[in-house]
Amino acid sequence: MQDVKNYIEQHKDRFINELVELLKIPSISADTAYSKDVIHTSEAVKMSLEEAGCDHVEICETPGYPIVYGEKIIDKNLPTVLVYGHYDVQPADPIDLWDSPPFEPIIKKTAMHPEGAIFARGACDDKGQMYMHVKALEYMTSTGNLPCNVKFMIEGEEEVGSESLSWFVPRNKEKLANDVILISDTGMIANDIPSITTGLRGLSYVEVEVTGPNRDLHSGLYGGAVANPINILTNMIASLHDENNHITVPGFYDNVEELSREERDEMAKAPFSLADYKNALAIDAVYGEKGYTTNERNSIRPTLDVNGIWGGYIGEGAKTVIASKAYAKISMRLVPNQDWKNITELFATHFESIAPKGVTVKVTPHHGGQGYVTPTNSIGYKAASKAYQTTFGKTPIPQRSGGSIPIVSLFEQELKSKTILMGFGLDSDAIHSPNEHFGIFNYLKGIETIPHFYKHFTELFKEM
Ligand code: BES
Ligand code: MN
Ligand code: MN
Repeated sequence: MQDVKNYIEQHKDRFINELVELLKIPSISADTAYSKDVIHTSEAVKMSLEEAGCDHVEICETPGYPIVYGEKIIDKNLPTVLVYGHYDVQPADPIDLWDSPPFEPIIKKTAMHPEGAIFARGACDDKGQMYMHVKALEYMTSTGNLPCNVKFMIEGEEEVGSESLSWFVPRNKEKLANDVILISDTGMIANDIPSITTGLRGLSYVEVEVTGPNRDLHSGLYGGAVANPINILTNMIASLHDENNHITVPGFYDNVEELSREERDEMAKAPFSLADYKNALAIDAVYGEKGYTTNERNSIRPTLDVNGIWGGYIGEGAKTVIASKAYAKISMRLVPNQDWKNITELFATHFESIAPKGVTVKVTPHHGGQGYVTPTNSIGYKAASKAYQTTFGKTPIPQRSGGSIPIVSLFEQELKSKTILMGFGLDSDAIHSPNEHFGIFNYLKGIETIPHFYKHFTELFKEM
């Protein structure tokens, strides 16, 4: 399989151009103004799978955006790899913070990517990473190097909670049956420090509304005499962490799995520079739960964060007013064993209980999902590790990530298979932020590494 490198060398300009075309379509699932573009993207993905050699591709309608399903079954006795990815992207705003338009991809060099990176919304999360699998399939089918069966399931609602997928998966267990699930929708430590993601955090996302008086009031005539919903809301939010930055919601930590000293020491071996971390974010200090390191805080520990807060007058100049209502959006990142529905309930009960007289509180759950940890002794992990060894010349480091892909735990529950998270993005690629990008090196290295995974996985599967 030495020829995968040659194949990429010969076709890399086309590989980049095809991704650039896909990135031009603004498939923002959160904003209905873009629904035509989201649908259009699903059609483009369908075509790309057909061209890459799938012998059956279909658009599966759902209550929401369609799921693109493709397969190439070569022999029922061989193992089956199921590739999952998403073709939807995050909204681009705040748009004025982009150095170039988010849906007009351009290639620029950066400190992290001296070979250049493609700048566009979705470049890394997840169109670029998803498309690596399409191009790896093209290589394998067109050169006779596909060693096993392959299925693709590419959805269009990941960034808004994958609701249709939780509807689709239980109804299509037969169709989705597989021996391993392969996802590239996470990151790695650095281009010369490959890592494989072995954990994802769960999520509970809620919106809160605090209502005081029945209308906005003159802050002189009423100020000091009635509860101001914004004052109250900010007080309530402040009380959700104690002086050690522990979360105060009763029962929140009940099921949290504490890692052993050995496990934490093992984690601490991963290369990490606190100085570089602070530098990259222009902060003079990190901040978080007492007793834990930065890498622990952002992976093995649960969190509670306000994602947005609003209410009252925010226009130009000053308006003296006490608003009738105040709002916030709050996310809780969870670790394995914490149940997101249970946490959502604990939060709602607590938040309502701390509201003083004079206001009413409403908690509306949005979406959520369970965390995930994958073992490093499965044949899937071993195959991935061997693949990275071949293409990076180094053994990849297992690393738990702080992000969430809630559907992964549902796959395990419904399809009874393990997921291997082969992510090729860097933290500095600015996913969800202005100026998102994906390194050309990373894109091509991903395409190169994936066929090695298929080969090793098939070999290890046959030895079982
Ligand atoms: N690809 C990300 C998740 C991710 C990124 C995991 C980097 C690990 C490393 C995914 O598209 C995402 O953004 N997930 C959301 C959750 C979803 C329910 C909206 C998240 O983590 O906020
Ligand atoms: Mn993603
Ligand atoms: Mn995302």
